[in-house]
Amino acid sequence: MKKKLLLTLILLGVHAVSQATPFAKADATAGKKLFDQHKCNSCHISMLGGDGNGMFTRPDHKIKSPDSLKTQVQNCSTNLGLMLFEDDVENMSAYLNKNYYKFK
Ligand code: HEC
Repeated sequence: MKKKLLLTLILLGVHAVSQATPFAKADATAGKKLFDQHKCNSCHISMLGGDGNGMFTRPDHKIKSPDSLKTQVQNCSTNLGLMLFEDDVENMSAYLNKNYYKFK
């Protein structure tokens, strides 16, 4: 009985998280600043040309969920050797989501 209650609570919790607007508490403007400051698009430009933002809109782009967006931002930041706070990753993800991915 106890186990069942716990499971229900866990499932409810997961449900609540997946319903929330992604990056609702994050600051997209701060994210844009970080994105520019760290020249995030430098690699993307050398791969795709243009302003690099084509990385986020290319037809076969990889990111299909808010979680994978965050993971990719984290991975790319690690490539740059950045030590980011969780908030920074959230903010950059919020910026990219607002302008390109538009996950709801
Ligand atoms: C060292 C080079 C490099 C730097 C610097 C870099 N990226 Fe990337 N980024 C890549 C590569 C390579 C891919 C493509 C990965 C793939 O196709 O699997 C990518 C893909 C991405 C994607 C996914 C695009 C899609 O398919 O939807 C996001 C989001 C992203 N980068 C964010 C960032 C952010 C934010 C920064 C700055 C913190 C950054 N990148 C800096 C190399 C880089």
